[in-house]
Amino acid sequence: MMPIEYLQAHAGSHYEHTGQPFVTLTYAQSLDGSISFHPGTQLVLSGSETKMFTHQLRANHDAILVGIGTVLADDPKLTSRLAGGLNPQPIVLDSNARTPINAQLFRHPTHKPWIAAVTTSDDESHCDALKKAGADILRLPASNTGQVSLPDLLTMLGEKGIGSLMVEGGSQVITSFLKLHLPNLLILTVAPILVGGVHGVHSLGLREDQSFPALKDYIWEQMGNDLVIWGELRWGDS
Ligand SMILES: NC(=O)c1ccc[n+]([C@@H]2O[C@H](COP(=O)([O-])OP(=O)(O)OC[C@H]3O[C@@H](n4cnc5c(N)ncnc54)[C@H](OP(=O)(O)O)[C@@H]3O)[C@@H](O)[C@H]2O)c1
Repeated sequence: MMPIEYLQAHAGSHYEHTGQPFVTLTYAQSLDGSISFHPGTQLVLSGSETKMFTHQLRANHDAILVGIGTVLADDPKLTSRLAGGLNPQPIVLDSNARTPINAQLFRHPTHKPWIAAVTTSDDESHCDALKKAGADILRLPASNTGQVSLPDLLTMLGEKGIGSLMVEGGSQVITSFLKLHLPNLLILTVAPILVGGVHGVHSLGLREDQSFPALKDYIWEQMGNDLVIWGELRWGDS
């Protein structure tokens, strides 16, 4: 079974049973695990085949999420334009509503961006500016780091009818989702180069004698010059 068929078979029942979206974590890295060269800059790692595959994945999710670091570095459109089909709802994790109002997301062809900010954000004027520019602000409780609480976000998204969520990065967002055991599926593109840059996954707060999260029954496939590896995530204790 390929990832899209897997999603179509599993995301709906996950949403039905939990009330929260099925979460797919997907990003591209080099052989040495780098997702960018410098912090805060973009490095194109995917070839044309895996880029098309990413757009097909987007078209099969209700929503797509990135962190404000990725918006500032890459200014992504977050559409599925290469694959056609429906665009997912774009969401930015942005505790303090720092998204620039000239970001490409404000020129999205079909959706208003959703900016997930913390309830206590005192930057009301920036929230107002984002709303005027066309965003919807999702106000959420803060986690113990002062950032958007991801479990509360998933509950809110479920209530809004989002049954599947694709998380595309960057590294802080990837790490936060993994630390909380939130992704159901991991789809990793590996470009056959060595970069020595910024790693996609930082410390997960685990001890050496603990079990690490792992892919169960993973599948890999060559797409163009890249390798795509995917599978369900299993956590140490489950
Ligand atoms: N290769 C790939 O597939 C790929 C994909 C995407 C991005 N990237 C690269 O990744 C880099 C950006 O990554 P990054 O780590 O700097 O930024 P990021 O992960 O995109 O965004 C991190 C920011 O999100 C906000 N945030 C809000 N709630 C959060 C939470 N619960 N957990 C984590 N973050 C939360 C935080 O800012 P506030 O505290 O202000 O809210 C945090 O600083 C860029 O170089 C980009 O090119 C690569």
